[in-house]
Amino acid sequence: MRNHAITRANISPGPSLLARATRGIEPLLAAEIGRLGVVTRLRHREVWFRVREPGPHVLRLRTADDVFVLAAVAAGLGTSKASLAGLTDAVREAGLKEALALRARCGGGRTTGVDVSASFLGRRAYTRYDVEDAVGTELARALGARYHSRRGGGAPPPGTLSWRVAIEDDRATLAVRIAARPLHRRPYKRASVTGTLHPPVAAAMARLAGLDGAGTVLDPCCGAGTLLVEARAVAARPRLLGVDHDPEAVRAAARNAARDTRFGWAVADAGCLPLPSGHVDRVLVNPPWGRQVRATGLLSRGDRALWEELARVVAPGGVVVALLHAPEAAARMAAPDAAGFELREAIEVSLSGAHPVIGVFTCSR
Ligand SMILES: C[S@@+](CC[C@H](N)C(=O)[O-])C[C@H]1O[C@@H](n2cnc3c(N)ncnc32)[C@H](O)[C@@H]1O
Repeated sequence: MRNHAITRANISPGPSLLARATRGIEPLLAAEIGRLGVVTRLRHREVWFRVREPGPHVLRLRTADDVFVLAAVAAGLGTSKASLAGLTDAVREAGLKEALALRARCGGGRTTGVDVSASFLGRRAYTRYDVEDAVGTELARALGARYHSRRGGGAPPPGTLSWRVAIEDDRATLAVRIAARPLHRRPYKRASVTGTLHPPVAAAMARLAGLDGAGTVLDPCCGAGTLLVEARAVAARPRLLGVDHDPEAVRAAARNAARDTRFGWAVADAGCLPLPSGHVDRVLVNPPWGRQVRATGLLSRGDRALWEELARVVAPGGVVVALLHAPEAAARMAAPDAAGFELREAIEVSLSGAHPVIGVFTCSR
């Protein structure tokens, strides 16, 4: 007897989708999804949902790392290698046709071949490649397509249909990516800099800033301009000002903004901004971490110069959303606190193996 029981993906009536998120911003993704449909499950790095009208608009979720159609949930999976047979059965019984029809309605394009990416938690007698090859071989058979294994480090060729298997405890979820590539890879990001921010986290920060009605939004350490380009997607009207001490970063940001006249760029020190006092309504900032990217100029002496200058240029009642990296909470908050900013919200996220905090501050003057 097989040691699994398969359940179809329809968690509740209507089509089921799964969005992946950076750890920490799942509730913000759920809120963004709330405008399109109903969230059915919110868990570590995932939001499951169904939409009223499936369509390509699901690919416009900016706080999602990626969006998938959920094809099957198999329960009862063991830890032995033999239990992978249950997974193969689960693929056989999954509603692949329905899943692919929903993918097509959501804007998924034509593909050739199949690839699988697997992950699991806990000790198992199989590897991720064993899972991928078991599922991929069965998918290829069912769909009449060629399977491209990742075993041996080979990346699948572009244009394959990408499946994802996630195993946790005794449960495996099988999902298929809708877009041709992960949503977090933004087409606008043609130029990059070291330490550039993950776009969905930048999108989350822009949402936390409450940009509706904001006149001027500033990023004083703009790098490749990710925060401001993501801010443009949230609010239609603000003026977006990007400053960086490094001329190459400013060139990269201007390139990514693609000559949009709402943006203004300047090479300057964030500790001495070329802006009048009280000029700015919102600040989005990802200051240098001191790991990959060094602080230069006035910031090389610490965060204080940045926060004192923000206190000067931010209008009363203005909001600063900052990604703060110091390992201790007290150290992270010391400079904003000393400059007169009040912490309204703090959200810890997981990024590149570190756990920075998104701090939302109001200017209390
Ligand atoms: C973590 S990176 C910002 C990445 C950016 N958010 C992005 O998505 O590409 C920090 C940036 O701060 C800049 N920087 C360092 N010292 C600075 C200073 N004194 N004034 C302004 N920018 C500075 C660096 O050149 C770098 O581009």
